[in-house]
Amino acid sequence: MIELREVSRVFESPSGESLTVLENLSCSFKAGLSVAIEGPSGSGKSTLLGLLAGLDQPTSGEVVVAGHNLGNLSEAGLSRFRAQNLGFVFQSFHLLQHFSALQNVVIAGEIAGLPAPLKAAQEALARVGLEHRTDHVPGQLSGGECQRVAIARAIVTRPKILLCDEPTGSLDRVNSSKVFELLLALHKDLGTTLVLVTHDPHLADRLDRQVFLEGGRFVNGAA
Ligand SMILES: Nc1ncnc2c1ncn2[C@@H]1O[C@H](COP(=O)(O)OP(=O)(O)OP(=O)(O)O)[C@@H](O)[C@H]1O
Ligand SMILES: [Mg+2]
Repeated sequence: MIELREVSRVFESPSGESLTVLENLSCSFKAGLSVAIEGPSGSGKSTLLGLLAGLDQPTSGEVVVAGHNLGNLSEAGLSRFRAQNLGFVFQSFHLLQHFSALQNVVIAGEIAGLPAPLKAAQEALARVGLEHRTDHVPGQLSGGECQRVAIARAIVTRPKILLCDEPTGSLDRVNSSKVFELLLALHKDLGTTLVLVTHDPHLADRLDRQVFLEGGRFVNGAA
């Protein structure tokens, strides 16, 4: 279960004015659902995913994910919550630049305490079609390959909840479709809750729910 209770996020702009990016959002999604988040650039989609992952805190309101009210968790508690429940595919990948593709994925498995992180990482990289690039560091990979490493890292723990920020944004049509089918298969086979930010309405329509963010609010889909 994912629940937002009157969540607002106000940033301070560089000129010192306050910028309300998310305003009083409330919604709830049952565990195991797949949800697409759509909305124009700058509408707060990545901000919202950051709140769901506990990487950022709302200015007001509460975020409850998998039974945890994230505002009540310490930094250590949040790290544990993420390792045990979440996979996150960042819009800008956030790969460790000095580590190989394989090491990037292994580290995520180690942090989560997987019994055999190396084997799990090799399998995850094979699932995204990168078994031939495991020793390359991110600087030696194409943008789409980096995106697939980021996805392998997010799925290596077979998380309960997968938060994906435009996970196919850097991929060509064939790889985009492969990655999307992989995420859908994880959702269906393992019951993974999938929250996916996308600008592609065709992909969004294949998920259980679609929510649209605009002007800081859900314009529809969150009822
Ligand atoms: N730390 C910050 N300080 C100030 N403003 C911020 C900060 N983070 C985000 N913003 C602003 O919040 C707004 C929403 O940003 P966000 O990254 O959530 O948009 P988005 O919907 O993911 O857009 P895109 O589709 O382009 O990825 C943007 O206008 C951005 O400039
Ligand atoms: Mg974004």
